[in-house]
Amino acid sequence: MRIHAPDYALDAAALRAAVTDRTRMIVLNTPHNPTGAVLSTAELESVAAVARENDLVVLSDEVYEHLVFDDERHVPIATLPGMFERTITVGSGGKTFSVTGWKIGWATGPADLVAKVLGVKQWFSFAAGTPLQHGIAAGLTLPDSRLAALGADLARKRDLLTDGLRELGLEVFHSKATYFVTADVAPLGVTDSLEFCRSLPERVGVAAVPNQVFHASPEGVETQVRFACCKRDEILADALLRLRKL
Ligand SMILES: Cc1ncc(COP(=O)(O)O)c(C=O)c1O
Repeated sequence: MRIHAPDYALDAAALRAAVTDRTRMIVLNTPHNPTGAVLSTAELESVAAVARENDLVVLSDEVYEHLVFDDERHVPIATLPGMFERTITVGSGGKTFSVTGWKIGWATGPADLVAKVLGVKQWFSFAAGTPLQHGIAAGLTLPDSRLAALGADLARKRDLLTDGLRELGLEVFHSKATYFVTADVAPLGVTDSLEFCRSLPERVGVAAVPNQVFHASPEGVETQVRFACCKRDEILADALLRLRKL
């Protein structure tokens, strides 16, 4: 189900309506890629209620748990009443420590659900790069203050990118977390973000992702584009200069 700009609030009624007697699992992602939305405790409680009432497992993708900006707070759904025993929580060293190519993460939850994950992993990729796992394990011993600093630095970059895109006349939706900022590129005369993003590297040497690839149908997000702010300041400045040519 989709959450809508500009506030990206969860539509609990739509979630409830989507559940049928064949539903087994809710896949949740907060903080959310691509919108940068962070679900509130009240929104998470409404998801938890649907899960409890229908005896569903929740697969909670929280890979951006530490990359949260300003006064936002990430709440793991597994911490809500009656949820630990039905939730698998997924984290990522790649995201937390900005080493996205490493593909090292973890799944936590009750032993019976983790055993199911292990069963699948065994037949998918068996193991992930062991030396890199040691690197992530060392990172996980860092004090929480170091992880909090990651969000602060990214928030500054989010501001650089958001302000720059707004100066270009684009509508930019407020990103509360993650590496991403979504902008509406309709003011550039764009009607299809897919086509726009395909041509962008060749036209100005900038890459972006059309939000419609995250949706089953492009309806409502035809002109929304995801830009990444997890870049050096000079790269962001250069990208904004290049986009100005449009
Ligand atoms: C929401 C979400 N979950 C999972 C992943 C995968 O994380 P990793 O690169 O650590 O495999 C990504 C990567 O973009 C993501 O955005």
